[in-house]
Order: sequence, then structure tokens, then C-alpha cells
Amino acid sequence: MHGKRILLIVGGGISAYKIPQLIRLIRAQGAAVTPVLTASGAQFTTPMTLSVLAGEPVHDTLWDRNSEAEIGHIQLSRNADLVVVAPATADLMAKIAQGQANDLASTLLLATDKRVLIAPAMNVRMWDHPATQRNLATLKDDGILTVGPDNGDMACGEYGAGRMAEPETIVAAIRDALTPAARPLTGRHVIVTSGPTHEPIDPVRYIANRSSGAQGTAIAAALRDLGAQVSFVTGPATVAPPEGVSVIAVETARQMHDAVQAALPADAAVMAAAVADWHVVGASDRKMKKDGSGQPPAFEMAENPDILAWISHADDRPDLVVGFAAETNDVIAHATAKRLRKGCDWIMANDVSPPTGIMGGSENAVTLISDTGAEEWPRMGKDAVAGCLAERIAAHLNGKTI
Ligand code: C5P
Repeated sequence: MHGKRILLIVGGGISAYKIPQLIRLIRAQGAAVTPVLTASGAQFTTPMTLSVLAGEPVHDTLWDRNSEAEIGHIQLSRNADLVVVAPATADLMAKIAQGQANDLASTLLLATDKRVLIAPAMNVRMWDHPATQRNLATLKDDGILTVGPDNGDMACGEYGAGRMAEPETIVAAIRDALTPAARPLTGRHVIVTSGPTHEPIDPVRYIANRSSGAQGTAIAAALRDLGAQVSFVTGPATVAPPEGVSVIAVETARQMHDAVQAALPADAAVMAAAVADWHVVGASDRKMKKDGSGQPPAFEMAENPDILAWISHADDRPDLVVGFAAETNDVIAHATAKRLRKGCDWIMANDVSPPTGIMGGSENAVTLISDTGAEEWPRMGKDAVAGCLAERIAAHLNGKTI
């Protein structure tokens, strides 16, 4: 994004309060921002805030003789590398769809010859209204790019689709729009599972494992960096989830299975979670107590769903399913058998025997097992492993081999 110029049109919605943060993030990536504020946008954020953060004056009227003499509105819209509308209100979307030009923002949008990216934000009923959906279809037909909206609680107290995408997600979409070729997973949806699962015994105790979530998190970030839309289904990991992905936080294996199912369809799935094999049947809803008999409690356990095996055979199976195999001996033989047993396309096999220091460490040594055999990768950082895997996934989905 370095050296690029973004013309940022700020519409009148409550999510305009996130625009100062968006401007900071865009500038942190080395791009310049020219802010344009609509009259209703000025009800939610101030010209002063935007101009201080952008380091440039805010444009807010068609009828400013000084500004028009210095740089006409046609020029303003053409000097940019990308036009971004955030928040894009129902009104702004309708104006763009109709080709209206009755204020500075709509005039710039009609006059531009650059790509336009909109981040819609409005009440869920307004978003669902056939008129808005009709306008959206028109905008997409016209080649206008969209990011969001997200689902969630709304400022008006309702719940549903219509929240503006988070600033980090908008920045990722801006990056995609500016450099489509460098982001070969643009438009692809990838599900990544990560972290351990916790299987409750009672409200305060659970069965867990030592997975940190480091490798899954690095994979989600690498896929995002190549432009993928990532659904990151994570158990209670110790490393924080990456920015710019949809985080679906779960606790148990059964919840992880349901979350993966809800995230389908997808182009690819990478199952990097260390899913518990069993859960306690009938976990107590009260804290269990010693009963004075000196006898420990007996737990009945049942097998958890195998998410990797399930998704590999699902009706809407992703084109590419990648599993992991953490082994302590006969790594290649066990992982090759696991690939066939689970029905996935690739297995990332690694030796987690204690002397390798891989479990919980920052490095990984993997062998990629596919139907063409086993390919040993040199030992490298988990970020580098993630980067290589993301490149391979992009090449596979785009029909190339490396
Ligand atoms: O069977 P095992 O745990 O060794 O297989 C490892 C692979 O299977 C990993 O990719 C893991 O994420 C996945 N897995 C799963 N659901 C399970 C168990 C494992 O998705 N219940």
C-alpha cells in the first residue's frame, strides 16, 4: 500500500466513529488518505478529527470556491488510487446505484475512474430491504467492491447483518483492491481450526492438552495475507488470534464441529486444532465434591466427532482439505495411513517427540504428505511453515503446481 492514495468518503452512520482508527491503520501501511465527509457523516465524526489523523484537509462541500480553484472535484476523484466509502449508508448506496450527483461525495463517486470499495453499515432491516439488496446487486454488477457488513449487535439495539466491517478487515480489503495479483487467494474462503479443546468435567474443571494454537494462528494470518477470507475456529489457545480474520471462539470439540459446519461452504479447510479425542459423558452442572468415601469419581467418556474425517466426506466438502499429524515415531508411515483413514488431501506430518522441542516451540519440521508422496520441508519457524503452506494452497486452488 506504500505510496498509494485513498480517497475516503465518510457517510452518516454511527460506525463513522471507527473511521479515525481506519485512517490511522491505512496511514500505518504507508498510504495517504484524502478524507471526504458527507453532511450526515459530520453528525457522527468531526472534520477536525479526520483532518488531524489524515494530515490533510477534509473536503466536505461541492461549493468551496477556494478548494475548487486549487483542485477540482473531478481531479480529487482521479488523484486517488482507490475510492473507499465507509460507512456506506443505505442512502449512499442508493445514490451510487442511481448515478446521482447532488453533493460532493456522490459527485466524486460518479466522476471517478478508479476502483471503488464500499463498507456498508446500516440497520439490519434497512440492509435486508429489497431496495438495498437491489442496489447492492447493481453496485456489484458495476464492479464496485464490498467489504462486510458483519453480523452482530447494532447500535439501535437490534441484532443481525449491518455492522460495518472492522477497520482491520477494511484495510485488508483495501490491500486486496490495490494489489489483486499479489494476493492469489482473493475471493477464496478458507476455514482454519486451531488451538486445543477443553472438555468439561464440571463447571470449573476440564480435560485439555498443551496446544498453544501458534501454528494454526500463523496459518490463518498467512492465508489472510494472500487475500483469503478466513474463518478461524479456535479453541482456548494461549496465543491471540490474528487480526483481519473472522474469529469463532469455541471450547469443546463438539462446538468446534458445529462451528466448522456452520462456516461451510469453503474453498479449503486446514484442520490445525489439537482436538480432544474424548469428552466426559454427562459433565456435572455443579462442582463435584469429595464424598468422604476416599473413592475418586469414575468418568464415563465418549468419542468426540472427528472433524477432519467428517469434513473430508461432507457433501459440501472444500476442494482442498489439509490435516495435521503429530507423531512421536514412524512419522511418515503413521501420517500416510492417517491421510487415507481420514480422507483428507494433504497431511502436514510432524515429529513431536520431546527432543525435537516442536510442541510449544517456535519452530516446526514438517513433511507434506499428499497422493503424490512425502515431501520433507526443512526445519523452519512456524510463521515460515505457515507462509509455505499458504502459497501451496493458493497454487493448488489456482490450478498450479510448485
Ligand atoms: O486423529 P488425530 O488427532 O491424530 O488427527 C490429527 C488431525 O485430525 C489434525 O488435523 C486434527 O486437527 C484433526 N482432528 C479433528 N477432529 C478430531 C481429531 C483430530 O479435526 N476429533
